[in-house]
Amino acid sequence: MRIAVIGAGAVGMHYARKWREAGHTVTLAYTRNRDGLAARASEIGAETASPRDAVSDADVVLFSVPFEHIRDAAQQIGPLHDQVVIDSTNPFTPDRSSVVELAPGQTAFSIVAHALPGARLVKALHNLGVVQVEDPHQQPVIFVVSTDAEARSVVSGLVTEAGLVAVESDDSSAVAATEAPGRLFTAPLDATQARAALTTT
Ligand SMILES: NC(=O)c1ccc[n+]([C@@H]2O[C@H](COP(=O)([O-])OP(=O)(O)OC[C@H]3O[C@@H](n4cnc5c(N)ncnc54)[C@H](OP(=O)(O)O)[C@@H]3O)[C@@H](O)[C@H]2O)c1
Repeated sequence: MRIAVIGAGAVGMHYARKWREAGHTVTLAYTRNRDGLAARASEIGAETASPRDAVSDADVVLFSVPFEHIRDAAQQIGPLHDQVVIDSTNPFTPDRSSVVELAPGQTAFSIVAHALPGARLVKALHNLGVVQVEDPHQQPVIFVVSTDAEARSVVSGLVTEAGLVAVESDDSSAVAATEAPGRLFTAPLDATQARAALTTT
């Protein structure tokens, strides 16, 4: 698969590395420092490109930018044409010390959906920190939320290839429960507990 990573920070680099190890083609984009990005890409055998070029022939896009840069990154991507987009964002303040107060019913996911109108959007890779997903004492569960069954299945496959357990939901209300500051955000659940927890969202 061809995967574009928009925002190659802690999340973007973690999953870019895993997917390169699984044999996928990965392109990193959206940076303040092109040389730094190129160095990170060469470490894992990835390419770099502008956000627009990275997504143009991608099968899947990982959108992993800080909350305050959602609109800017989306503008740099430009129009999408039915690509599967994984939204990993959480609504933290720029210094990451607290959660941004959103309007009733609004989530980071709804903001990304508005900013990326052509995307087949899937909320995933958001509910656990990159340190948590490497914890050998946990069976890390990633919630994969979308009303698009085919896109969910593609993303669950990538979650599994990254060594994690995918727990799917087609219920959009699961987004608020699993994004920060929802009750399932960073919750150390196994797959059975995670499925049970979703039924009460
Ligand atoms: N960290 C976690 O454990 C974790 C887990 C789950 C979800 N999330 C969410 O996933 C998203 C990404 O988190 P992250 O921790 O990977 O973020 P991060 O480490 O700060 O990485 C974001 C990347 O965005 C790029 N970027 C481009 N323009 C930027 C600008 N003007 N200012 C800042 N960054 C800019 C940066 O690339 P360059 O460095 O190349 O400039 C940076 O590496 C966030 O919404 C976060 O809440 C984080």
